[in-house]
Amino acid sequence: MRLSLLPLGAFLLATPTLSAPSFTGEPDSSGKYWLFGPGITASFIPYGASISNLFITDKNGIDRDIVLGFDNATYYSVDPVHPHFGGVPGRYANRIKNSTFTLDDDGEDYHIRPNENPTAAHPAGVNTLHGGPDGWDHRNFTVVSYTKSSITFSLVDPDGKEGFPGEVISYITYTLSNRTWDAKMVAIPTTKKTPIMLSSHTYWNLDGFANTEAPTALNHTFYLPFSGQTVAVDSILIPTGEISPAPKGSVNDFWSAPRQIGEGFSLEGIEGNCGGGCTGYDNCWLVNRNYPYDWRSEDKMVASLASEWSGIKLEIWSDQEAFQMYSCNGMNGSMPIKATQGRDDGTGSRGVEKYGCVVLEVQDWIDGINHPEWGRGPKQIFEPGGDPYVLQVRHRFSVDA
Ligand SMILES: *[C@@H]1O[C@H](CO)[C@@H](O)[C@H](O)[C@H]1NC(C)=O
Ligand SMILES: *[C@@H]1O[C@H](CO)[C@@H](O)[C@H](O)[C@H]1NC(C)=O
Ligand SMILES: *[C@@H]1O[C@H](CO)[C@@H](O)[C@H](O)[C@H]1NC(C)=O
Ligand SMILES: *[C@@H]1O[C@H](CO)[C@@H](O)[C@H](O)[C@H]1NC(C)=O
Ligand SMILES: *[C@@H]1O[C@H](CO)[C@@H](O)[C@H](O)[C@H]1NC(C)=O
Ligand SMILES: *[C@@H]1O[C@H](CO)[C@@H](O)[C@H](O)[C@H]1NC(C)=O
Repeated sequence: MRLSLLPLGAFLLATPTLSAPSFTGEPDSSGKYWLFGPGITASFIPYGASISNLFITDKNGIDRDIVLGFDNATYYSVDPVHPHFGGVPGRYANRIKNSTFTLDDDGEDYHIRPNENPTAAHPAGVNTLHGGPDGWDHRNFTVVSYTKSSITFSLVDPDGKEGFPGEVISYITYTLSNRTWDAKMVAIPTTKKTPIMLSSHTYWNLDGFANTEAPTALNHTFYLPFSGQTVAVDSILIPTGEISPAPKGSVNDFWSAPRQIGEGFSLEGIEGNCGGGCTGYDNCWLVNRNYPYDWRSEDKMVASLASEWSGIKLEIWSDQEAFQMYSCNGMNGSMPIKATQGRDDGTGSRGVEKYGCVVLEVQDWIDGINHPEWGRGPKQIFEPGGDPYVLQVRHRFSVDA
């Protein structure tokens, strides 16, 4: 049964806590902007230009909210953990070694604000994650256009913010169509040459956190058909410069065939795979397609994630040439699910347990600005008057009976 075929009453019955799922041209009372497409309903908020809800009807006809987020837009800037729920990390996603980079021609070292891995000598941290402590996904974007099926957010990132050179103006457009969520991100430097790398940092659980038999996402089947190599990292997940093979049958092999994420947990190398003392995944795979390619082609899908329990399958197409997958190793039950996912504050709130979700991030080769030998400059360094930064990603959903 497709959501678009359901009368409003049936929709409300299946998800009794969802408020006012219809287009009004205004955010709802929780500050969420709802979008609608055949078989898909989602909400977005200005904070981080984040996705906050995404409903797909599962194989039993039940609407499942399959992304993590909070009940209302206000709480995103209150929550002390800030897990980057569904937002756009920027101006430079993922990690920057030593919070430092050099732009090839001027030789000047840029020092940006650190925010990860604090030490006694460096209490703020020794590297930068997702653009700094006030990165793009901590800021409220402006809504510049909003229709029933599409929304565009914009942010002006000032010169020097978080230590980055020059002003950058960005536009993030989300569009829903037939069981499809498209995102297009454009960023334009207006005053100085600067690195730009964005991503979409969505936390998925294709069972909508409703599978009590298998509450983690380890039973989800993951596939990365073009990704036989990973970016090697040190114990704090900073790229070493090496590119590692992911041999068939090894812990990071999701290319030779689709595989349950949990299957890797019985293989050698899973301990420490996501950094020192960490068991699981927080890895960046290269996406190697032969040039030239049309990223929208059916046969160029970069990743898929599927759950047999709900029957929901997500397939991802993108113009980006790397892919990060994080298996929610840092969750520990304390982060609540949403009311739309069945949280019951009266009888004890259910939280997201360790490995309870999967973050899928399309992006470029991580920390490429510190590895000029990789040749990622044209994809990561932009200047006024040159080509804009562009990221495109298509999420297509289907349901197996
Ligand atoms: C806002 O959302 C948070 C987290 O989802 C929830 O704990 C809080 O009760 C909500 N506040 C209101 C007023 O609904
Ligand atoms: C962002 O918007 C939320 C309301 O959705 C508001 O509570 C918060 O204070 C705003 N934050 C900033 C930095 O403007
Ligand atoms: C790390 O950055 C600091 C300044 O923030 C600089 O003094 C130091 O040389 C850098 N270290 C390396 C290894 O690049
Ligand atoms: C949606 O796509 C499916 C195939 O995935 C197709 O069968 C169906 O007709 C499409 N519906 C609309 C409204 O375009
Ligand atoms: C989870 O996957 C395992 C291994 O494939 C399977 O034995 C088990 O039945 C699955 N559990 C659920 C609830 O789907
Ligand atoms: C669980 O995670 C939260 C958020 O990261 C953290 O504040 C808390 O200390 C953790 N609790 C335990 C028992 O590790």
